[in-house]
Amino acid sequence: MKYFRIEGGRALSGKAAVHGAKNSILALLAASYLSGGESVFENCPDLTDVRESLEILNALGAKTSFHDHTITVDASGADGSEIPAERMLRMRSSILFFGAAAAKTGRAACVHPGGCAIGERPIDLHLWALRQLGLAISEEYGILNCKTDRGITGAALRLSFPSVGATEQVMITAALSKGETTLYNAACEPELVDLQNYLNLCGAEIRGAGSSTVVIRGKSSLSGAQWRVMPDRIEAATLLCAVLSAGGEIVIENARPEHFRPVLEAARQMGAEITEGGEIRIKAPKRLRAIPEIATSPYPGFPTDAQAILMAAAAKAEGTSIFYENIFENRFQQVSELAKMGAKIRINGRMATVEGRETLSGADVSAADLRGGAALMVAALGAQGVSRVFGVDFIDRGYETPESTLESLGACVRREEKGSITWLIKDSKPESPQRATVRSASGKES
Ligand code: UD1
Repeated sequence: MKYFRIEGGRALSGKAAVHGAKNSILALLAASYLSGGESVFENCPDLTDVRESLEILNALGAKTSFHDHTITVDASGADGSEIPAERMLRMRSSILFFGAAAAKTGRAACVHPGGCAIGERPIDLHLWALRQLGLAISEEYGILNCKTDRGITGAALRLSFPSVGATEQVMITAALSKGETTLYNAACEPELVDLQNYLNLCGAEIRGAGSSTVVIRGKSSLSGAQWRVMPDRIEAATLLCAVLSAGGEIVIENARPEHFRPVLEAARQMGAEITEGGEIRIKAPKRLRAIPEIATSPYPGFPTDAQAILMAAAAKAEGTSIFYENIFENRFQQVSELAKMGAKIRINGRMATVEGRETLSGADVSAADLRGGAALMVAALGAQGVSRVFGVDFIDRGYETPESTLESLGACVRREEKGSITWLIKDSKPESPQRATVRSASGKES
């Protein structure tokens, strides 16, 4: 069993640079399949989801390589249209290859995508939008098939919700089409601007990404391009929350403050001193203040991906913080695990009330999704004693070697793996966790 062993209670100091954005490179890799040439992506994070995307590209016939944070995709001879089921089931963004393959080859087949279980996560908006673009889509025994005899056509369409994935789906598919597409109520996340700029370098004609109306003038072919992936705003937000939780003063390099403004503002309200320039310097207060209300919403609102990690810091703040999760219906999975560290959090539907405690204590905790896992690491950094955070595979989906990044800030985090585990059960003294009781992995006490 793999886990991160974290000795909490050490103030952070020093500098850390964020990696390239996971949510950007996943869409960029799907878009690279449209190209009739070679694309080179710099500043790519080495994540399991990125590796999965490369496997999909390989299965579709593209040639890929990944060295030293640089990915090369040669999609020139590729004409595959069936996305392997085992890849589809591993991550949600695999659905973007459905539109890309249909635009390139006139047909595509896949199963419904998997990904973190943070809600129902339907793909109805993706399929609806693709139908508007002229694709005939059928579903039998869970397998989605689509084809178009006339090619992708342009359309004017309005999303009923500004879904990030559905916006990417439309931009990618319509880039290689016969007409002009106007997408209203599009998502405005910065990753969409990254996607637009890369596609335009490949010869596409897209404008408006980053606003709620995106116009795509379709092209009959696209070339490849060289592109540097934007910095990961959620990794930056995670480092920010780490120093709020553990205390200390750090500098985050290679992040753009305008990309995660609501998280920075929340940290300021909680008492952090933050200076922004070429780098972001954050000094945590001696004791955090509670944050009266955080409500997640589409960009430029407070990002749902930062909800759990900020909640982990708020668990130690003075006073009561309220969190509303408005994007995904099952995104409080970290709460029961934070409670094992002593956090006092009540859930009522989409609202979580956090009554800050002066200290948290180390515990064995298990991630159930990517950002929930990051939240447990954030809490463990600020807790007294040792924590072991299980569910490492979730965390590896979105953070490249988080143990190295945190160690460079003076934290004590080790990636460990043991065949069998005895659970660490805290005694009543949070400062010195003891193995008062050991329990086997089956849950039986001994
Ligand atoms: C992307 C991000 C994810 C982030 C999320 C919201 C990637 C790889 N992932 O996910 O980290 O948390 O944006 O910022 O970029 N919905 C539907 N039908 C659809 C599509 C979405 O009902 O066809 C709903 C979802 O269930 C959810 C909401 O819309 O409730 C937002 O989802 P969406 O913006 O599409 O998120 P993702 O693209 O999956």
